[in-house]
Amino acid sequence: PRRAVLGGTLSGVVEAVGDGVTAFAVGDAVCGMNGLRMGAHAEYVVVDAKRLVKVPSGVSHDDAAGVLFGGTAALHFLRDKGNVGPGMTVLVNGASGAIGTAAVQWAHQQGAVVTGVCSAANAGLVTELGAAHVVDYQATPVTELTTRYDLVLDTVGNIDLRSGRRLLTDRGTLLLAAASLGQMLRARGNVVAGPAAEKPEVFALLLQHVADGTLRVVHDESFTLDDIRAA
Ligand SMILES: NC(=O)c1ccc[n+]([C@@H]2O[C@H](COP(=O)([O-])OP(=O)(O)OC[C@H]3O[C@@H](n4cnc5c(N)ncnc54)[C@H](OP(=O)(O)O)[C@@H]3O)[C@@H](O)[C@H]2O)c1
Repeated sequence: PRRAVLGGTLSGVVEAVGDGVTAFAVGDAVCGMNGLRMGAHAEYVVVDAKRLVKVPSGVSHDDAAGVLFGGTAALHFLRDKGNVGPGMTVLVNGASGAIGTAAVQWAHQQGAVVTGVCSAANAGLVTELGAAHVVDYQATPVTELTTRYDLVLDTVGNIDLRSGRRLLTDRGTLLLAAASLGQMLRARGNVVAGPAAEKPEVFALLLQHVADGTLRVVHDESFTLDDIRAA
């Protein structure tokens, strides 16, 4: 493998700082994303200080690391590309996942009416997070929905351009978080695909919402590093 140690998202305590680093000191609790360099699945990782923010007091490392991956993607697509706002109708396909749980909460808090697609087992969770409607994908495949939405966020990868456009209102936007290379190359106009930028100001905003209790980080399970294969 080109990257011996995987893991893009991290949260931990600063052990040492390089020359010229003034934003952080040994002992600070920090978190961030290490992009394609990865290396976060380890006890120690070297990270560019520009990729980190401080973890607010009261926020656990589990929550800090847990919110960044899905949270940055949710904000990139819904806020930055979709301009989600009051009264908009939003379909979140994969509503119980890392992106989906952040997306449902964010869209709901911006005043949108959210429909979440997930398994029946997670319907209660997605409703608690703010979805007005929940669709069980085993009972109704997402592409068979007949309602139209202002924003359709696909985090699963089972909505193609044609079926996605059919789900949109006249001025709707299709947001493909889990896009194939072909979809990324063909995405234009009201179709958005591609990687979310890893911006420290977005990390800080997400953490602030976790700290003040307005963004819940949903964990299935935690594993020690020794059990990383099981994870
Ligand atoms: N573009 C970007 O920058 C970016 C950033 C982050 C992630 N991603 C990509 O986005 C994708 C999702 O990531 P994630 O971490 O959010 O995934 P995840 O946590 O594994 O969540 C997957 C979600 O999909 C749901 N699901 C499974 N089968 C489904 C179906 N047939 N129809 C509808 N929903 C279904 C699951 O529901 P149940 O659990 O209820 O079954 C769950 O809500 C990945 O491909 C990831 O690589 C892209």
